[in-house]
Amino acid sequence: LITFFTPKVLAGKRVLITAGPTYEAIDPVRGITNRSSGKMGFAIAQAAQQAGAEVTLISGPVALETPRGVLRIDVQSARQMLEAVQQQAGAADVFIATAAVADWRPASMADAKIKKAEGEATPGLQFVENPDILATIAHSPRAESGQLYCVGFAAESENLVEYATAKRRRKGVPLLVGNIGPNTFGQDDNVLTLFDDSGHVELPRASKQVLARQLLLEIAARLPRRQ
Ligand code: CTP
Ligand code: CA
Repeated sequence: LITFFTPKVLAGKRVLITAGPTYEAIDPVRGITNRSSGKMGFAIAQAAQQAGAEVTLISGPVALETPRGVLRIDVQSARQMLEAVQQQAGAADVFIATAAVADWRPASMADAKIKKAEGEATPGLQFVENPDILATIAHSPRAESGQLYCVGFAAESENLVEYATAKRRRKGVPLLVGNIGPNTFGQDDNVLTLFDDSGHVELPRASKQVLARQLLLEIAARLPRRQ
């Protein structure tokens, strides 16, 4: 029922969303990823479309249907996700980073499948840090001049208020959405805490669909008004 009565609070807005995990290749058949299901990001994409926005969803590998009316761009690695986001961010009014981006990737990808050989040492993986997509976009001129409103997510396993408050400042975003994980990965419901420069408020346990709508109402209320 609620979908029929979704207020069009994002009419005329372009919303860019990242979702899911990233996949960082070790060799052509192996890689490193994480347990993000993408459900929260896809729920936000659907809710934003229903709220009247033009939505672009940049997704890592997930097993989810594309929400109706949403433009989806599939990527694998963090660097591909950054490139896709940078191509789209110039036209966006809102950027919501829900993706569980791999913090590190193997320093180099083997061109061929790494073979095991009797008596040989196990391969030692070297890592390098991935680019921070959210921080990169949040520090762009469009974001810093208030034309692009950036929203981050943070799953913490402990000390949510302390870590999320610090993370919001570090990322340079006006709004950061925190939750206690990783037990929320793959679940259909969640509890979200919104951190902004006036403190934090909790959105109590609800389905990711309901939370997505509530979050978008909060975001819409924070967007600069048109003259
Ligand atoms: N994020 C991103 N690019 C990265 C890492 C994170 O865009 N390379 C985004 C996530 O999509 C999320 C926010 O930054 O919106 C916070 O991600 P998180 O992993 O919680 O923060 P990190 O800075 O990576 O800190 P840590 O994992 O050490 O807690
Ligand atoms: Ca991280």
